[in-house]
Amino acid sequence: MAFEVCKLSKSLGAEVKGLDLREALNPSIRTKINDAFVENVVLVFRNQNLTAQQFLAAAKQLGQPATQKLSQYKVPGCPMVSYVSNQEKTDAGNPKLLGKAWHTDHSFQPEPPKATLLYGVKLPKRGGDTWFANMKLAYDTLPNKLKDRIKGLEAIHAYRESREVMSKNERNAEILTDAEERKLNTVHPVIRTHDISGSKSIYLNPLRIKRFIGMSSDESSKLLERLILHSTKDNLVYVHRWQQGDVIIWDNRQAMHRVEHNYDLSEERLMHRIILKGIKPE
Ligand code: SIN
Repeated sequence: MAFEVCKLSKSLGAEVKGLDLREALNPSIRTKINDAFVENVVLVFRNQNLTAQQFLAAAKQLGQPATQKLSQYKVPGCPMVSYVSNQEKTDAGNPKLLGKAWHTDHSFQPEPPKATLLYGVKLPKRGGDTWFANMKLAYDTLPNKLKDRIKGLEAIHAYRESREVMSKNERNAEILTDAEERKLNTVHPVIRTHDISGSKSIYLNPLRIKRFIGMSSDESSKLLERLILHSTKDNLVYVHRWQQGDVIIWDNRQAMHRVEHNYDLSEERLMHRIILKGIKPE
């Protein structure tokens, strides 16, 4: 199987051309794909045609699929694959549009997934783009003063049903000591070192971060805002415009992502999603 890896933007993202993910990848191809994955943060495989089972088999070639949190969104008969759909409704009957704000997946877990794969099953005619921010480049380009400020800093990641950015009021609602937070929630370093490349990234999840250890909620909100603003500048972002048959995989250790619901909401947008087991961020 001959394939090539073509960059999609200056900052991150590459397309892998010439691979059919229904086929077994030999060890040398797997190594090259994994190298390209770590280097480019996001990989895109176009023109794929996969059932949920085939998608799962493809994912197993790149890592170990892990169970996803939201049990109500599992593909029937294939529970390791979940779905992301704009057909889900809120209690008020409006479309439940998840993932609008920048985040990284499952950071409330002590060992968050190293990667997420998404397969576009049904796509709107246009729009519904997924945005990615390169958090390694975000670290590399961070002013030294801010680098010093976040050196050794840890963040409290709390699970909440809501997938909206935590508001100041929510942050202030429950003031617990650092020790109490450590018992109740998951604490991760703000700078994490990639277990394969050894490079440093800023590890943020605006949906889940309650505050930073040793800082008040207000101080944490201000710092978080500055870090997000820096990390999501145009030159650090790749916007994926979906085409039928696209599979993408991104590296949660060095990316944040969000979806733009910029399409006709009467059209269906359905994705199949798999997460791959990761390790404790350090
Ligand atoms: C997600 O946030 O995991 C889903 C992104 C998307 O639907 O494009």
